Amino acid sequence: MNPFNEKPSKSILELTPNWKGIAAKPYNKLDADPFTKERVILMNGIEVEAALFGHNFHRHCTDNDLRRDIALCRRQEQLQQKHVNWLSPSNETPLETTISYEQLAVDLTACLAMREPDAYAKACMDFALLEDFDHLYRYANLLDFDGDVPAHQLTLDTIEITPGRPTIAHHRHPMDTVRRFNNARTADIRTVLSTMTLTAGEQQTMNFYMNVGNTIPEGPGRDLYQEIGMVEEQHVTQYGALLDPSLTWLENLLLHEYQECYLYWSFYETETDAHIRKIWQEHFEQETMHLFIAAELLEKHEGKDWHELLGDGEFPEKLDLQPTKEYVREVLAATVENTAQAEDFVDVRELPAEHRFFTWNDHVNGRVQDVPSHIVAREHIDQFGEDYRREEAPNPIKDLQDRTHDNTQVGRKQG
Ligand SMILES: [Fe+2]
Ligand SMILES: [Fe+2]
Ligand SMILES: [Fe+2]
Ligand SMILES: [Fe+2]
Repeated sequence: MNPFNEKPSKSILELTPNWKGIAAKPYNKLDADPFTKERVILMNGIEVEAALFGHNFHRHCTDNDLRRDIALCRRQEQLQQKHVNWLSPSNETPLETTISYEQLAVDLTACLAMREPDAYAKACMDFALLEDFDHLYRYANLLDFDGDVPAHQLTLDTIEITPGRPTIAHHRHPMDTVRRFNNARTADIRTVLSTMTLTAGEQQTMNFYMNVGNTIPEGPGRDLYQEIGMVEEQHVTQYGALLDPSLTWLENLLLHEYQECYLYWSFYETETDAHIRKIWQEHFEQETMHLFIAAELLEKHEGKDWHELLGDGEFPEKLDLQPTKEYVREVLAATVENTAQAEDFVDVRELPAEHRFFTWNDHVNGRVQDVPSHIVAREHIDQFGEDYRREEAPNPIKDLQDRTHDNTQVGRKQG
């Protein structure tokens, strides 16, 4: 598929929906395909990024003709965001939605890591993957307290729920969260698309916790959103660092529109819900319009041809979200003890005692018994005699197999 061959025959006004057009029927939280929920969350995050990027561009631009053109596309991004995010039903609680957010983080990261040609970008993905995998376990334990809808009734067992690198180990010195950037002109297009997609996805999770965390009743759950929200800040820093910072605003706009086209096309091709599939198709058409506008603006204002960044414009293989249980187990078995040191990943057991990882981690955690991510597992164990898990085989890490004791050492302590 090449979006540059798909120029819409309609005008931008004809491609703009009315209120009825964006008021779509929400999915049913108990029987929706978990991957449909993941696609909804991701595309909402992509549209939020499109709108915020558009506003930042606008604020850094001195040419009002160009600002008017950006405003035109940005208005549609906002309509798309409303259309997509309102697919989440009102009876889905923030905590239930959170389960889907963390499941998306795991499945999306694993799917992209499995096809990633750049070894460094793949290492970054594997690194954050294990952390979101542990977040899923922590939130699932919290959700199970009330016994209302346990997490596996939402994930339909398309993902395992078991400890990853324990959340208590994620809190690192900010200087160890910045990674090396790539060159969008020479990088494989899959690397460019994947790092942009993960940046927007993690940013959406960060924003979501920033906003819903305080709607959770007083107790360990409310505090858990603060703790995990701070880890999402680290994930956004990591993926944002990978993006090419030397691109101009208009080059960046072109990449944003190309990425939106790519994702809507992928999801239009793979969606199982017929009603939602139509929405992906409709948005794909709008995005091809944005892509043509971005390419024209780049030519007009900077004299650059879109081929310089996008080659022949042909999409890579589509993004087909699927269960990734085996891959997650492999990464867990191989890298659970990893932490970050500046731009690279190292085995925490080999760090010197005075390393800033330990100083920072001990400082923000305070007493281990006060750490929310530990408390939610411990409280579940106290109440039910064991933690909440959904495993198809024992956890690949021996120290994480004990269901009556929450491990706070793995990934965090010297050997
Ligand atoms: Fe969009
Ligand atoms: Fe997470
Ligand atoms: Fe994350
Ligand atoms: Fe767009």
